[in-house]
Amino acid sequence: STKIILDLDTGIDDTLALSYILASPEAELIGVTGTYGNVVVDHGLANDLRLLAMYGREDIPVFRGIDHPSTASSFEVPPDSAIFHGSNGTGDAQIPAETTRQPQEQSSVDFMIESARKYPKGELVIVPTGALTSVAAALEQAPDIVDKVRIVLMGGSLTQPGNMNPFTEANISQDPEAANALFHTAADITMVGLDVTTQVLMTREDTRALRETGTQVGTFLADMTDYYISISEQEDGDNYQGGCNLHDPLAAAVALDPSLVTTFATNLMVETDGPQRGRTIGDPSRILQTPKPTKVALEVDADRFTKRFMDRLLTLARS
Ligand code: BDR
Ligand code: CA
Repeated sequence: STKIILDLDTGIDDTLALSYILASPEAELIGVTGTYGNVVVDHGLANDLRLLAMYGREDIPVFRGIDHPSTASSFEVPPDSAIFHGSNGTGDAQIPAETTRQPQEQSSVDFMIESARKYPKGELVIVPTGALTSVAAALEQAPDIVDKVRIVLMGGSLTQPGNMNPFTEANISQDPEAANALFHTAADITMVGLDVTTQVLMTREDTRALRETGTQVGTFLADMTDYYISISEQEDGDNYQGGCNLHDPLAAAVALDPSLVTTFATNLMVETDGPQRGRTIGDPSRILQTPKPTKVALEVDADRFTKRFMDRLLTLARS
């Protein structure tokens, strides 16, 4: 099995990514770490703890990450994220479980470092789906883990316009310096960005199937995702695709099965200045250099992914 750490800003599609990993027999989720973006860190962690309680998986430890960008002393949820993910991060749907469990004492950065050192190369994949501050800090504090860790992140865009502004995608925009530092390491990184995540959708037909399971989990996932679809319809205007994008679940799925995407190897950087701050671009100073450690997903087998995603979610909702 593939050992997974999910670094989430939970978040509707983060919730779907967590659900997908829990529903995947070939995945072993060794920990959930909390970052910020859609929500503040403590809010995301509270969601993670309740979601794990809902799934009866309180054996999985949860760790707190750094709660603000490298260049600021605090973080506030951008208005757009609050609109897209609802006031509670789960589209105003209530997670049908409570828990008294708390995050571990150990920080997410220390947990990532310890885990990367513990497992043989290739066994562990870190899947960041929010701001990259903690993941970048782990690599900075422990350069020795660079050869051991595989990272499959949701973020950025090479060929598509951004979703925060025409240049930048939300996760990268939260901490461009951290993302830039990460892309300058030699780590094995796959970038699952808007290039591919805008090609995979969940529709009202899918939420209907979840609702028809008649279970608490199915109803919750359907309510939450219906909210995301409605907001997408409202905000995307003429660009509405008939559903919501499965950003974070696609990164989780690629972590388990890289064959779902076709990638382009390059040396990436992130603009940290000017109006294009937060944009992921090829690094002009390293573009001809080898090796090219970052693989940017540019094509996706959307049908194979969405079918597997819905099959697994339905099985989870029924169980
Ligand atoms: C990313 O930003 C967040 O809103 C989503 O959870 C996803 O990780 C999409 O740009
Ligand atoms: Ca996210």
